[in-house]
Amino acid sequence: MEAAGEEGGDAAGDGAAALRQRLAAAGQGHVLRFWPELGGAARRALAAELRDMDVAEINCFFRRARGDGGGGTTAGLDARMEPVPRDVLGSASRDRGLLPRWESRGLAEIAGSRVAVLLLAGGQGTRLGVPYPKGMCDVGLPSRKTLFHLQAQRLQRLQQLAEEQHGTPCHIPWYIMTSGRTMESTKEFFLKHRYFGLKKENVIFFQQGMLPALSFDGKILLEEKGKIAMAPDGNGGLYRALGAHSIVDDMEQRGVQSVHVYCVDNILVKVADPRFIGFCLEKGADCGAKVVEKTNPTEPVGVVCRVDGVYQVVEYSEISLATAQKRGPDGRLLFNAGNIANHFFTTAFLKDVVNTYEPQLQHHVAEKKIPHVDITTGQLIQPEKPNGIKMEKFVFDIFQFSKKFVVYEVLREDEFSPLKNADSQNGKDNPTTARHALMSLHHCWVLNAGGHFVDENGTRVPAIPRLKDANDLPIQCEISPLISYGGEGLEKYVKDREFRAPLIIDEDGIHELVKNGM
Ligand code: UTP
Repeated sequence: MEAAGEEGGDAAGDGAAALRQRLAAAGQGHVLRFWPELGGAARRALAAELRDMDVAEINCFFRRARGDGGGGTTAGLDARMEPVPRDVLGSASRDRGLLPRWESRGLAEIAGSRVAVLLLAGGQGTRLGVPYPKGMCDVGLPSRKTLFHLQAQRLQRLQQLAEEQHGTPCHIPWYIMTSGRTMESTKEFFLKHRYFGLKKENVIFFQQGMLPALSFDGKILLEEKGKIAMAPDGNGGLYRALGAHSIVDDMEQRGVQSVHVYCVDNILVKVADPRFIGFCLEKGADCGAKVVEKTNPTEPVGVVCRVDGVYQVVEYSEISLATAQKRGPDGRLLFNAGNIANHFFTTAFLKDVVNTYEPQLQHHVAEKKIPHVDITTGQLIQPEKPNGIKMEKFVFDIFQFSKKFVVYEVLREDEFSPLKNADSQNGKDNPTTARHALMSLHHCWVLNAGGHFVDENGTRVPAIPRLKDANDLPIQCEISPLISYGGEGLEKYVKDREFRAPLIIDEDGIHELVKNGM
């Protein structure tokens, strides 16, 4: 933009004229409305942002997404849905006898360095409202470890377990998808913490795409007079980003055959869970979803099911209450496979998705309150009700392309506690519930390994560690992931011993007193 310094001038210069023309042709010329008021630097930044933007493609995304809601037809969905059949379902609680076999298969794959994990960490975390990426959150555990730290240490421990069992050194590459909003701070955080003990070359950052927020009639919104309101293109932006950054090639070069994809905000996530991976491999699956049982019909969670014979996630809002309430012969909800965005993919499947299927995916439309500059008055508007849309793809949109799809059900209290909201907002999915979920689980691990807790009088605390409601305080107990990945190996620390909470077990041993209080 050669003439960026011209006072009050037009978007002059050949490149600028072409830009203006391109925007006008796409019906988006209004984004240059405040050009004459912008200084040189602001003009250059806006021009650069717009030059990288394919406005015709954005218009096309909008038309397609608006065309049918972005997710295929939902007409008559209730009648077309079928639950997941038992033969493609594995269950950590109902198939207990098979767990050792699945686990050893998964560990063998990890030992052969054929497994990678892929973290979805490009979200804006608007509900949580912290000014940094969610993975950097410290939810107030005794150790003050952040979500990134816990995940990194689980990976380390898993590598160690695989090495011990198979006698070969191995590594689990960790692909981290960030967005324009989270890339720099995430990278800095990892650098500052020396990759939490992992090898730098095995932590690979890549960035997902961003799309402009649009008004209901498809006009690009401005966040400032010289800045487009941009948002990441959803966690399903993963597939385009994998192609754009040649990530599948990198996986192939490293010999990776299985990929575990998960969300940053689940404090209990079992990264590269060997049982899940072993189960999917035994079934010959190219795509798998880990789910938790939906027990309450009105819980607003999507369920994995088949529609017209094809697997997909059906959102709670897409079906009737009567369908959500249906029960099977075992008394459980018929559609109970609650999606937690925790998936297995073969590298070969990801390659097909990137090369063939990704362009077929449509964006979903989310109506949002989007702060923006009014194009006629130049005033900044903070809307009180939704005034526009964000377009997003979802990570589960590719289930439909799987040739062999499986589902693996785990217990919620063992594996799923997402951090979505701030403590001040409501009692669900916040730092307190995340902290409590982790401490309750670790309390269970101690009990299962033969340890006991006593109160201040030395009386044994009854072994009912699960919390009844969010106001109950759990026994304060935290076990470093470097000591135990999933409850294993704790006997030598706790068997037949009595402890007073708070109890911490980490690389330095057993601590019954917390240094910095809770
Ligand atoms: P959510 O849909 O809960 O979004 O993301 P969020 O950004 O964390 O929170 P809100 O909705 O703004 O409050 C689920 C997972 O998908 C990732 C998130 O980082 C999280 O791990 N995600 C979401 C992406 O990687 N990219 C996106 O564009 C959106």
